[in-house]
Amino acid sequence: MNASKQVIRFLLNERLVELDFRDHPELKPTTTVLNYLRSLPFHKGVKEGCAEGDCGACTVVIAENQNRKLVYKTVDSCLVFLPMLHGKQLITVEHLANGNELHPVQQAMVDQNGSQCGYCTPGIVMSLFGLYKNQHQPSSEVIKDALTGNLCRCTGYRPIADAASGACVFHGVDKFSTAETETLKSLDSLNIHKTHIEIHTSTQHYYKPFTLTDALEFRRKHPDALITGGSTDVALRQTKKKELLEKIIDISDVDDLKTMEEHKDTFRIGAGVNMERLLHFSASRLPALYKMLKIFGSLQIRNLATIGGNIGSASPIGDTLPLLMAYKANLKLQSITGVRFCRIEDFITGYRTTDLKTDEMITEIVISKPPANRIIRSYKVSRRKDLDISTVSAGFSLLTVNGNVDDIVLAFGGMAAQPARATKTELFLKGKPWAEDTVFEAMEKLYHEFTPLSDARAHADYRCLVARNLLLKFFEDSKGLSL
Ligand SMILES: Cc1cc2nc3c(=O)[nH]c(=O)nc-3n(C[C@H](O)[C@H](O)[C@H](O)COP(=O)(O)OP(=O)(O)OC[C@H]3O[C@@H](n4cnc5c(N)ncnc54)[C@H](O)[C@@H]3O)c2cc1C
Ligand code: FES
Ligand code: FES
Repeated sequence: MNASKQVIRFLLNERLVELDFRDHPELKPTTTVLNYLRSLPFHKGVKEGCAEGDCGACTVVIAENQNRKLVYKTVDSCLVFLPMLHGKQLITVEHLANGNELHPVQQAMVDQNGSQCGYCTPGIVMSLFGLYKNQHQPSSEVIKDALTGNLCRCTGYRPIADAASGACVFHGVDKFSTAETETLKSLDSLNIHKTHIEIHTSTQHYYKPFTLTDALEFRRKHPDALITGGSTDVALRQTKKKELLEKIIDISDVDDLKTMEEHKDTFRIGAGVNMERLLHFSASRLPALYKMLKIFGSLQIRNLATIGGNIGSASPIGDTLPLLMAYKANLKLQSITGVRFCRIEDFITGYRTTDLKTDEMITEIVISKPPANRIIRSYKVSRRKDLDISTVSAGFSLLTVNGNVDDIVLAFGGMAAQPARATKTELFLKGKPWAEDTVFEAMEKLYHEFTPLSDARAHADYRCLVARNLLLKFFEDSKGLSL
């Protein structure tokens, strides 16, 4: 094997790091960026709070070259495996100041007394830095969204939000913008002649393709390897369940999987598109998806998590799944030898199981453009609005003809071992008037259609009540719309 394939290269702040895993037995290919940084001298700003993407104490910023511009993304470093840094710039809190001069976001934190406990503040500063680089004069909604993934239990967010609005007034200009041309040049040199990376240790095999063909070839050769996109689910298997991930195919840098296209009748979304990009794409095109993604995880999570990963995890509470059922989405499943399409509801076969063959991966999600008179809505009920897992989620779609239900999809998460449609209630409604009396009757049927679990999140009866009441909400929301 070509020796260079074992090496990853990235910029740590301005410094080039070339990491050959064979020379570093203390590092695994699945060592997280958080643990790597903590192992270095002078990089202890980053903290481990939860190691599962919830607290934001480990927030760092990753900059990458997109169309000759640096794009800055905040991420939770506890979820990012080291090889995911290849060809990028990792920016940590240690590097924000310019000599003795604080970065504008740091200065604003000082001025507004926003620096609270030493554990969370570095992560908060990095979120503010991400905001600074991406937003000019952000609204309070945008500021809150940027801080959703940084948990504070001591004091509150007001001075921090004030620091954000005070700092983000310079169009992102700072020492990083001054150095942009130089940084792009350095990143180019890391990405030139980019060929796949393979890291082998005595216990792990890590494959990192950059093209779809290479990804599918790895999949064919290593059917037992775990695919990872954003690793927001996969990393937890290591950090929380202490599993050794023996074989991984990391598709996070396969550009062929990151396309989003609008065609005459369809939207085609690459499986590797992250939730933050999808959020922006869906704003004017798929409003129900947009509404769901607005409360999906946090910005740090959305910058990593992919739509393919949400589907691939086949979680009973995967938020996009019921909605994709309502959109009647199709999945493009590809292997090195062929392509097939599968309806999303046929793809999910049980509790976290799918119809994916061992040589396939999800490469695209195809959503037909809904006709103007089809009403599609998403709902998420959770214990708190932000950064929480659904108790019950729903994707509903309705088409009426002359006031009668012609076609309806009532799909739920959190009501069964897998995201599922309320087919009996749908059948009951079909052909009937979309009117209060019928909906009340349907609600009673829906209440008895599922037998969900009781768990720490909610009692089974509560889930049934929520499902029932969401139908009423859907009915109320549909009033006044041209049916
Ligand atoms: C703090 C936190 C908050 C979260 N909030 C939410 C939330 O609000 N709503 C929600 O639904 N989820 C949430 N999640 C779960 C997770 O972020 C999502 O499921 C996410 O979409 C997974 O995407 P990923 O790219 O990170 O997947 P990964 O972790 O990389 O993979 C997940 C699974 O999908 C498989 N997979 C990935 N890509 C493909 C592919 N192209 N083809 C076939 N299989 C594939 C993997 O093998 C794995 O089994 C949260 C997670 C965390 C840690
Ligand atoms: S340590 Fe809590 S989000 Fe990473
Ligand atoms: S800033 Fe750390 S708990 Fe509030």
